[in-house]
Amino acid sequence: MASGRLRGLLTVVLSTILIIILFSAASYSEPDERKTVGFSVCKICHSGEFNSWSLSLHKDKGVECEICHGPGSLHSKKPSKTNIAINVSSKSCSPCHSTGDLDSIPAEGNMLKGRIQVNEFLASPHAGKLTCVSCHDPHSQKVVKSCSTCHEGKEEQFKGTEMEEAGVKCIDCHMPEAVKLNEGSEKSHLIDINTDPNARLTYFVDDRKVGSGYLTLEWSCLTSGCHNNKNIKWASELYGVAHGAKGLTRDIKEKMGEIENLSNQLSEANSKIKVLQEEVERTDVQRLLLGGLIVLTALLVSIYYFVVRS
Ligand code: HEC
Ligand code: HEC
Ligand code: HEC
Ligand code: HEC
Ligand code: HEC
Ligand code: HEC
Repeated sequence: MASGRLRGLLTVVLSTILIIILFSAASYSEPDERKTVGFSVCKICHSGEFNSWSLSLHKDKGVECEICHGPGSLHSKKPSKTNIAINVSSKSCSPCHSTGDLDSIPAEGNMLKGRIQVNEFLASPHAGKLTCVSCHDPHSQKVVKSCSTCHEGKEEQFKGTEMEEAGVKCIDCHMPEAVKLNEGSEKSHLIDINTDPNARLTYFVDDRKVGSGYLTLEWSCLTSGCHNNKNIKWASELYGVAHGAKGLTRDIKEKMGEIENLSNQLSEANSKIKVLQEEVERTDVQRLLLGGLIVLTALLVSIYYFVVRS
């Protein structure tokens, strides 16, 4: 009897505890409905990110924190890495920096269409190796890694060339303004330069509505505004200069100067030689005439003697 009562009491106590636990768990579990709270809330704890973002074009265009990081109501109450999103993939930028099918590059006429950085990036040699935020700070959008950080060898080659000394930068050739916007043009993210003089930026199909996955010498050298008085043949013969192949590095320039100097001296010497030779020739003629005159006089004298005296 006693053990039966005890068992009953125990059951009641245990179930009460269980109910209390379940009830409290239920009442403490937060609704998993994340809402957006606005950047002024994020600003309280993330002043660094807020400060660089607040001076950016994204701020001006209303690209707020939660567009990239997702709704932050839960996170703001109980900050944790698990309740806020971070997406470094270039696809996270594609809602606004791409057009149409990401595997193709939309073009129009002879230029690429505007705001297609993700389409271009995916066709570039950087696809799969970098993301947009490898080069750009996601908050200020400024370029925080220059080409030379990762391509030291290329920078070495470029250093001391005539163009480097004239202030030309990597992006002047590798990111020319081949992208057309309504309001102007944008720098291309294709990066790769096809050096074939017959290569085209846009395919000659489908009314040139598809771009090729590379830049052409036309865009890198001619239409960039640097050599618009030259032609594609000129560019295809000389592009190697950019990386020192047939490059006019400083010491080669000095040697070429010396050669020119010497050849100037040579042609000066040659013309002097010519003048002297002419003088010599003239003296020869005079001598010949003088000799002739002497012989003639001698002949006349002897004729006189023979004829007059005989
Ligand atoms: C009350 C302070 C606070 C507020 C408000 C706040 N955060 Fe945070 N946030 C933190 C803390 C603390 C961490 C670090 C969490 C950790 O390391 O576990 C963090 C981390 C992050 C991270 C990094 C997550 C990761 O995986 O590394 C992001 C992104 C972030 N917050 C975005 C936001 C955004 C967007 C807002 C506004 C919607 C916001 N935060 C509001 C305190 C806050
Ligand atoms: C255009 C998209 C975008 C916007 C807008 C944006 N972020 Fe970020 N944020 C990112 C990306 C991408 C990363 C991850 C960067 C990385 O890991 O290299 C990041 C990282 C962070 C981190 C983690 C930093 C760290 O060092 O771990 C915090 C905190 C953060 N963002 C807060 C904010 C806040 C606050 C705002 C608004 C003022 C904001 N972000 C707006 C894309 C964005
Ligand atoms: C919700 C739309 C949206 C998203 C998402 C977005 N951007 Fe933008 N971004 C814009 C707009 C709008 C501009 C203004 C320039 C324009 O109109 O093309 C801009 C401009 C930029 C600029 C040029 C800034 C300048 O000062 O010239 C960079 C760089 C940039 N975004 C990088 C990114 C990166 C990297 C991501 C992804 C991490 C991203 N954006 C995500 C809308 C967006
Ligand atoms: C290899 C480095 C690198 C990568 C990767 C990169 N960018 Fe850029 N981006 C640049 C440079 C350099 C500029 C030119 C900045 C300048 O004008 O000084 C630029 C310019 C821009 C601009 C402004 C274009 C203009 O001419 O007005 C936008 C928008 C942009 N990038 C978005 C993106 C997006 C989105 C991604 C990812 C798909 C991306 N970038 C990937 C280096 C990079
Ligand atoms: C964060 C590092 C990083 C930055 C910054 C960067 N690159 Fe690259 N780049 C790479 C990697 C990684 C590859 C692919 C590896 C390879 O094939 O060499 C690559 C490949 C390339 C290629 C193709 C190389 C080949 O052998 O065909 C070119 C061209 C190039 N980058 C130019 C640039 C230019 C121009 C810039 C500046 C706008 C730049 N890169 C900025 C890392 C970077
Ligand atoms: C005057 C235009 C010009 C400038 C400036 C320039 N490049 Fe190039 N770059 C080219 C051309 C053209 C090619 C393609 C030539 C080739 O295939 O050899 C090329 C090729 C490359 C390659 C791929 C080479 C390979 O081995 O396949 C890389 C990487 C590169 N450049 C990086 C850079 C970097 C980094 C800078 C700045 C320090 C820079 N370039 C400056 C025109 C330029």
